Amino acid sequence: VTDAARDWWEATADYFQDEADVAVGVDWGPGTDGDHGLLGDVAGRDAVELGCGGGQFGVGLAERGAEVVGVDLSAAQLAHARRLAADRGVDVSFVRGDVTATGLAAGAFDLAVSAMVLQWLPDVAPFAREAARLLRPGGVLAVSLPHPAYEVLDPETGALARSYFDDAPRVEREAGIDAEMRVYAHRVADVHGALRAAGFRVDRLLEPGSADPDDYDRLWNYRPELMARLPPTLVVRAVVPEEG
Ligand SMILES: C[S@@+](CC[C@H](N)C(=O)[O-])C[C@H]1O[C@@H](n2cnc3c(N)ncnc32)[C@H](O)[C@@H]1O
Repeated sequence: VTDAARDWWEATADYFQDEADVAVGVDWGPGTDGDHGLLGDVAGRDAVELGCGGGQFGVGLAERGAEVVGVDLSAAQLAHARRLAADRGVDVSFVRGDVTATGLAAGAFDLAVSAMVLQWLPDVAPFAREAARLLRPGGVLAVSLPHPAYEVLDPETGALARSYFDDAPRVEREAGIDAEMRVYAHRVADVHGALRAAGFRVDRLLEPGSADPDDYDRLWNYRPELMARLPPTLVVRAVVPEEG
């Protein structure tokens, strides 16, 4: 599983970073706008970005004064991230690793963020356990993923294409790329349950959006008409309870 995600990102990172031209700063994903008040003042906070990709989110946090470690499976993505941090003159530590077993010290962080990474994992539980391990008591996890309701649509026709309850991955291939994209939809209740089972208290759950297609730009295979009908992105914040 990890190999499939890594192979895909090693093969597509350069194309993706060129095409997507992701802005530096907090970006939870399609249809979202800014940090939605989830992070507050991060200055002086120890933050880890789980699945940092090209580093735009983590570099944005570093520019707001956080001490940031970014973790990603893909060496190609990390090369983009390191270049971005150098270009912006910020110090971010990027390490190659799996978000479900980072090898970072337990209890080393006040904040863990992860944008649009969970869809590459078959199961949320190992991710939730690792995030809980990395955070101090009172630490905050803020995570986004493709909204599972949007994922039932055929992105071209807008027809209902899958069952909400279908756990099988969606597998796609692109001409000229020697790897496959293998992504998983996670039900809202499964995300909530995995976070709770890992010891988190879930304190925010957001489905950003609007019913007006003009409020959206087309992004990859996300279509404004569809995003105006179902939310494309789910954003959740959870807290490690203080001891005692
Ligand atoms: C859609 S990109 C998102 C990157 C970044 N968070 C952003 O918002 O631009 C997904 C990233 O997750 C990484 N990834 C997927 N599975 C992973 C895993 N198990 N451990 C670490 N990184 C992973 C990929 O290498 C890729 O860089």
